[in-house]
Amino acid sequence: MKSVEIYAGPSHKWTLLGRDASKPKLIIDTNQYLIHSPHEAIILDPGGIELFAPMLEALVKIVPLSQLKHLFASHQDPDIISSLGLWDQVLDGATLYSPWLWEGFIRHFGMDRTQFCGIPDSGMALPLSTLTLQCIPAHYLHSSANHHVYDPIAKILFSGDVGAALEPVDSPLFVDDFTSHIDKMTFFHQRWMPSDTAKRDWIRRVRSLEIDMMCPQHGRIFRGAAVAQFLDWFEQLPVGIAVA
Ligand SMILES: [Fe+2]
Ligand SMILES: [Fe+2]
Repeated sequence: MKSVEIYAGPSHKWTLLGRDASKPKLIIDTNQYLIHSPHEAIILDPGGIELFAPMLEALVKIVPLSQLKHLFASHQDPDIISSLGLWDQVLDGATLYSPWLWEGFIRHFGMDRTQFCGIPDSGMALPLSTLTLQCIPAHYLHSSANHHVYDPIAKILFSGDVGAALEPVDSPLFVDDFTSHIDKMTFFHQRWMPSDTAKRDWIRRVRSLEIDMMCPQHGRIFRGAAVAQFLDWFEQLPVGIAVA
């Protein structure tokens, strides 16, 4: 599994864990994001059960396991959080932040020692010792209860399945040419995103944030001008095509 530092500031860092060449072929590739300070760490969308071993191996090279005190799951999908039962066995008293609506479903992945903190529909602040992250509502994009995470210091938005592209594990980490990347995103967004109303609400909210990088759970990271290009493209894209 690759481990790439994508932001380093005075108080904390972001590391992308992903592009795992040993991944079973028939599961989709996922990006896991580790935010870590000298004292604590959080993983955004820890990933599927198949990725647990390479994730753990990569993680302990960056932070001691005892510092991983928080997990965040944007929604309930298996590629997001089916590893939960294994994290639950190796972490001592961690807290999982996830939409409140999904608690009874997510507990099916196995959760005995981990605390569940339900994120209300309106979002919430997620305070760590050196910074406060913001949970940004992204309901129906694609899951009925869904949140993204904004870091106002690094100016990074973790955007879950929004901005996703399903690509091979050797694909580049960043969108360098937005126009040529469109083909890789179109079907995913049209088929997985059900609601134009939800889409417009999210775009309005996200445009009010200052964003240097938008980091999806699949595919490439948008940076600089590519962030606004993505929002403009997504705004005009018809979604929910299965019932069109
Ligand atoms: Fe999903
Ligand atoms: Fe996903």
